[in-house]
Amino acid sequence: MGFVCLTLLILSGITDSISERFDVVGPAYPVFAGAGEDVLLTCSVKLKTSVVDMRVEWYRTDLSGALVHLYEDHEDRNTEQIQSYRGRTELNHQLLQTGNASLRLSAVKVSDEGRYKCLIKSISWFDDATVDVKVEAVGSPPVITVDGFDRSGGLHLQCEAEGWYPEPDLEWLESEGVRLSPETTEMHKTTDRFSVKHTVTVHQRDDKIHCRVKLRHHMLEAKIIISSNMFNSCSQKTAVIMMSVSAVLCVIAGMLIAVFVHKYRGERELRNDGHIIVQLAPPMGKN
Ligand SMILES: *[C@@H]1O[C@H](CO)[C@@H](O)[C@H](O)[C@H]1NC(C)=O
Repeated sequence: MGFVCLTLLILSGITDSISERFDVVGPAYPVFAGAGEDVLLTCSVKLKTSVVDMRVEWYRTDLSGALVHLYEDHEDRNTEQIQSYRGRTELNHQLLQTGNASLRLSAVKVSDEGRYKCLIKSISWFDDATVDVKVEAVGSPPVITVDGFDRSGGLHLQCEAEGWYPEPDLEWLESEGVRLSPETTEMHKTTDRFSVKHTVTVHQRDDKIHCRVKLRHHMLEAKIIISSNMFNSCSQKTAVIMMSVSAVLCVIAGMLIAVFVHKYRGERELRNDGHIIVQLAPPMGKN
């Protein structure tokens, strides 16, 4: 009889500690959050055991365990919380009853990117889950600027986009969707954002050239329509310059002619020699 009682006692002890055990699960994949938006870092206890009477701790494993949010003795205790999370974390106490310890993080910053741990602890047991957070910031749309022409008639284009995170891909495309390889590529990082600038030289005329900035599932685009007029305007400009140069030369030549005519008029009248003026004409034409 005593033996049976002892066995029952041991058995009930085992079942007790088994019922105390729980598994904590987080998302299987990294959580993507847009800068400035809110994000939910999911974490819950399997079998929906209430965690109201437990300790729920959210911290950054990649920041030497810095505290993000703490729930203990039935309330939030965030005096030790890192400054950058102040006022931006929220644990739904209602949902804790169903074992849901998901953390709402508002106004996401680039610095929120990292590895989080959700640790749930009872008197006799604890388990945790990892949540990887990836932040993306869509910056300014690309801006194309015309940077001049080269001797061979190629048009220099520059495309720039600022304020992206992480570093976006920038690409030039012809209207057919063919990628143009950039001549120069530049990347700058300011505190936590990236700026990119690529240049390209195009020889196509009557074509649309696109500049695309891509980041995971975000894409912003700018396009420039290159008409033959653009190239013509270059030759027109050259023509204008040529014209004004020849205009100046004409004036000089005209003055010279006037001087010569004036100088030789007397002689011509004397010698009646009409060749002088005709002879002056070739140098003017040459200029
Ligand atoms: C936990 O609660 C959030 C809402 O705050 C919900 O989106 C999520 O699906 C819940 N998780 C589970 C496992 O029920």
